[in-house]
Amino acid sequence: LLVKLELLADQTKRLGLEDGLPCGSKDGLVSWKPSKRSSTTALVDESRIYGRDVHEEELIKFLLEGNDDSGNQVPIISIVGLGGMGKTTLAKLVYNDNKIEEHFELKAWVYVSESFNEVGLTKAILESFKFSANGENLNLLQHQLQHKLTGKKYLLVLDDIWNGNAACWENLLLPFNHGSSGSRIIVTTREKEVANVLNSKLFDLPQLDKSDCWSLFERHAFHGRNKCEYPELELIGKKIVNKCGGLPLAVKTLGQLLRRKFSEYEWRKILAADMGRLSDEDNKVNPVLRLSYHSLPSIQQRCFAYCSIFPKGCLFDKGELINFWMAEGLLECGGEADKSEEELGSEIFNDLESISFLQQSLRTKAFTHARYFVMHDLVIDLAESVSGEFCKKLEGDRVEGNLERTRHIWCSLQLNCDDKLLEPICEVKGLRSLILNGNRTMLISSKVQHDLFSRLTCLRMLSFGYCHISELVDEIGNLKRLRYLDLSDTKITSLPDTI
Ligand SMILES: Nc1ncnc2c1ncn2[C@@H]1O[C@H](COP(=O)(O)OP(=O)(O)O)[C@@H](O)[C@H]1O
Ligand SMILES: [Mg+2]
Repeated sequence: LLVKLELLADQTKRLGLEDGLPCGSKDGLVSWKPSKRSSTTALVDESRIYGRDVHEEELIKFLLEGNDDSGNQVPIISIVGLGGMGKTTLAKLVYNDNKIEEHFELKAWVYVSESFNEVGLTKAILESFKFSANGENLNLLQHQLQHKLTGKKYLLVLDDIWNGNAACWENLLLPFNHGSSGSRIIVTTREKEVANVLNSKLFDLPQLDKSDCWSLFERHAFHGRNKCEYPELELIGKKIVNKCGGLPLAVKTLGQLLRRKFSEYEWRKILAADMGRLSDEDNKVNPVLRLSYHSLPSIQQRCFAYCSIFPKGCLFDKGELINFWMAEGLLECGGEADKSEEELGSEIFNDLESISFLQQSLRTKAFTHARYFVMHDLVIDLAESVSGEFCKKLEGDRVEGNLERTRHIWCSLQLNCDDKLLEPICEVKGLRSLILNGNRTMLISSKVQHDLFSRLTCLRMLSFGYCHISELVDEIGNLKRLRYLDLSDTKITSLPDTI
């Protein structure tokens, strides 16, 4: 019996289950205890921006100065820098500045992203200027935009442009040359080439200098504590910050993480972590973010990996994501006896938010005014890398790649003309989540429903949000494992008896 007990004690130690002691995870990195404290909000964060005063002033000067010397084209400035360097943050600072508010008659902020189409972007711009966007005809939409902007002094921010196709931008930007002089466009992009193609003034955003990185780290890691009482941690912290390469996103995430692991032992572990081993071949995933991921408990890791179902720039709701996790069964085994799955989900959500893996967006929901959430592009890259082929995002006019091992699909295919597009999805027998992001145009015919419901019998979560669908067919009853069905913003008024 004693031998057995010793064996158990040994295993407990190796699995890191000892009470009150920091525990080692399988990859030798540190563990992470969920906190009960509420997390910081993005809005507070925005007001604590370090080391960007000079850059902010320079940008504001460009926006306010009178002489336009770029001929017929509206002056454009491109903020260029690595992902996570603070381009969007700087653009937000400027966009919300009082002087800018007073100077421009109209303002719009649009997230562009890697995959966009000209019609969708033009509509998004119209809506962001608070004009109505009618129809799908690019020519008509551009006329509407041109008409509304004529003679107006406007500011437009195009956040996160990847596409460097000159002809495409030349066409897209046509309506913007009709505003009054003094109008401006700010672009953020990782690619210098985009700045050239747009014929814009280049604003190269440098990395944050050492002292600003330290201030940012210190604010998060020592939050509510007097750092003078921890001289040893200060020394280690300064060395840790140097590993972040002046990237604010990395500094902030590590600072937030180490606040939860406030001990010399944990900080030394982070300092000792081999960043080289954490980077992947094509350097797509930031090693500091990967380190933070490895430090999460496994239930948090699984919930986070599931988030790779969202495309870049996608806004989502806290309750919605928790429902997805529940439908997928991710919260079934992790809770204490007296805790509901919703409560556990909410804690995990807050924990992921507290290390900036999930971030509040400035957009609020229409009626409740609750904030939407969003994931930084680099964080999505990380989620994609850890979830591998299990999550897929399908866009455009065809399904590409092998879906054999895929379990979760987010799909925004241009479906209205061709039912067959969904055929490859119907083949994925083990599919558990399917989000058909209708964008108000995706037509879900009875035939499509019939195919989906008779073949995808493992589905646990199904979303038809914003799709063109007015009736659910009886075969929905085949989906015996379905735990979450989203029909918001559809024309459906009643459910079949088979549900
Ligand atoms: N100068 C700064 N001071 C403090 N935090 C910053 C700073 N710049 C960026 N951040 C934080 O870093 C994260 C990434 O910034 P973001 O502007 O989204 O980067 P990018 O648009 O270049 O990818 C955000 O959470 C932001 O709040
Ligand atoms: Mg950005």
